[in-house]
Amino acid sequence: MTNKKTSVWIDTDPGHDDAMAILLLAQNPLVEILGISTVFGNASLPKVTRNARYILDLANRNDIPLFAGAEQPLFRDQIYANIHGESGFDGVALIEATPVTVDEAQSAMITAIKNANAPLTILALGPLTNIAKLFTARPDLVKRVQRLIIMGGAIAVPGNKNRVAEFNVFCDPEAAEIVFNTIIPKTLIPLDPCTPVVLTDQNIASLPNGTVGTTLKRALASYVKNIDTFEGIHGALMYDPIAAYFLLNPSAFETQPMDVRVETTSKGLTYGMTIAERRTIAERTLNMDVVTKVDEKRFVLAFLEAIHNMDAQKRSM
Ligand code: BDR
Ligand code: CA
Repeated sequence: MTNKKTSVWIDTDPGHDDAMAILLLAQNPLVEILGISTVFGNASLPKVTRNARYILDLANRNDIPLFAGAEQPLFRDQIYANIHGESGFDGVALIEATPVTVDEAQSAMITAIKNANAPLTILALGPLTNIAKLFTARPDLVKRVQRLIIMGGAIAVPGNKNRVAEFNVFCDPEAAEIVFNTIIPKTLIPLDPCTPVVLTDQNIASLPNGTVGTTLKRALASYVKNIDTFEGIHGALMYDPIAAYFLLNPSAFETQPMDVRVETTSKGLTYGMTIAERRTIAERTLNMDVVTKVDEKRFVLAFLEAIHNMDAQKRSM
C-alpha cells in the first residue's frame, strides 16, 4: 500500500456497488475525496443523486461536495439497471427523490481540477457521459488529471447488458469511445476480473451490527436477490468497489496495456461492445491499462475491514 494521500474525484450512479465503493474510500486516511458527481445510470439522475446523499450521510461524510451531472446519454435514450431495483438502491428506506439541478457537475469538476495542488485521480463508476463532456469542453485539463480509473467494458467475457456489452459502456457508448480516445493515463476495470468476485452470504453475515453494517445487510439482501434473478449469480457483485480498491492497493491487481475501442455504429447484437485489439501481429494504439486479475481475498478482507472500522468509529463518537 502506498503512503501518499491520493486526491480523487468520484463520478458515480449509486447503485449498491457504487455505494460500497464510496463506503470503502470514505474514511480511508490515504484518500482525499475532493467531490462526487452523479450521472444517470443505475437509476434516474434525481434518484442516484438522492442515493449518493444517503450514502454520504451514512458514512458521516456530508462534508464531501456532491453535484448532479448528466441526466441522459450524449445521443441515445437512457436506460436503467434492474439489479439495483426501482430506487437504484433498493432495500433501504430512502426518502423521495427531490428534483436536482442537472449538469452542475461539470463546472464543479473543472474548478476542482484547476484548484487541486497536484494532478488528481478520477474514479468513474457509471456511464462515462460526465467525463466525456468534461474533456470535450476542456481538453486543456487533461494534463491535470493523473489517472482515470474506469469501471466498465468486457474484454474477453460475455457482457452483462447484452451478449457482449457491459452496462456502463452500453448506457452511453459514444461517451465511452470519447473517453477511451482521450490521451490520458487510464486504467480500465472491466467485467473480466470483477464477475468472479462476490461477497458471499457468509461475508455479508459477518458485517457488523452497527449502522453501516446493518444498512448494508438490508441493501445487499435486495441486491443479491436481484442478481440471482437477472444474472443467475449468487452473491453480491463488487464491480465498483473493486475499481475503488485499485486506488488503495494497485499491487493487488494485474494489468496489461491494451488498445480498446467501443462499437458505436451497431444497432444490434454488438451495440456497446468494448473491443480490444487481440491479434498477435496487429498494429496497436495502446490507450489504457486493463485489469486482468484482482487478488480476491485481499480485496474482500479490505472491504469488510473498512465497514467494521466505520462502524467502530461511529460507536466511539
Ligand atoms: C456496472 O453497472 C452498474 O450496474 C454497476 O454499478 C457497475 O458500475 C457494472 O456493469
Ligand atoms: Ca456504477
